[in-house]
Amino acid sequence: LFLLLTACQKNAFPIDNEQLSEEERLVIRFSHVVGENTPKGLAARKFAELINERSNGHVEVQVFPNGFLYKDGEEMDALLNGDIQMIAPATSKVTSLVPEWSVIDLPFAFSTYEEVHDYIAGPIGQRLISKLDDKGLHTLGIWDNGFKQISNREFPILLPTDLKQLNMRIMPSDILEKQFSILGAVPKKIDFNILFHHLENGDVDGQENTLSNITSKNLHTLQKYLTISNHGYLGYVLLMNDEFWKELPVDIQLLIKETLIEVNQWEWDIAHQINSEKLVELENCECIGIHHLTEQERLIWEEAFEPVFEYYKDRFGAEYIELLP
Ligand code: LMR
Repeated sequence: LFLLLTACQKNAFPIDNEQLSEEERLVIRFSHVVGENTPKGLAARKFAELINERSNGHVEVQVFPNGFLYKDGEEMDALLNGDIQMIAPATSKVTSLVPEWSVIDLPFAFSTYEEVHDYIAGPIGQRLISKLDDKGLHTLGIWDNGFKQISNREFPILLPTDLKQLNMRIMPSDILEKQFSILGAVPKKIDFNILFHHLENGDVDGQENTLSNITSKNLHTLQKYLTISNHGYLGYVLLMNDEFWKELPVDIQLLIKETLIEVNQWEWDIAHQINSEKLVELENCECIGIHHLTEQERLIWEEAFEPVFEYYKDRFGAEYIELLP
């Protein structure tokens, strides 16, 4: 099959000696909000390189990192309007379009990447994906980042009660909002790209994110304490505008699908690797106090979060929760 595909691709995308003009090239604009040295940034770049190379320049994937082109709140509309063709927003951000996706945000719902992948590959995940189809989106895969950790400016967060009255930055998701508000914290929905500024001027005391995101934006330099809580999964839905997808020639669709089988697996591997490396780096830098939640503390957190599961169940039905691991 591989040889056949390679042969097809060779025929489909002849090598042109002349530089192809704008009209002859098919351009796919891929916008995202994180830095280039993050799992998403690296995978977007790898995808672009492989597509450009394998299509002999006939398809050009242009990657716009760091929210340069569109910011957090803008990229989904830009995709739906056809101004760009690909994005990979965090599942938490997709909840503004399909709120049921916030099941992934439920605290301590997943302990491993495999559990998340299995849930999304199962019947509920397929239902969530079909809800995106209904909105005019084509899902091309799930990219991991990692599990979120909690950082704070002034004191270590060991127990849920430590969060009382702290201003905590969250991604826009009702479940993330609930997760902090039921503990007496004040959740603040703030764009990723301006978070550094808000931590710096003290508008927010702390935040939750993966170590890759925290270190890539130097957020740890503004925080004194980090709690390794692994309380929530942060990953991405790789999305294309469905109208654009459907209009692509079949050989290009095939090239994209085949390339993504490889890139998606590669992305998972480097995401896990980067987040583990960042933990070692932070442990060695002596620049932030690190506390790993103990098993006993974790049980206290899980109990404190039970009402969040009830809240989700009341809104969207028990079936989403029942199939959680
Ligand atoms: C965040 O806003 O913290 C993340 O969604 C950023 C990202 O895309 O990883």
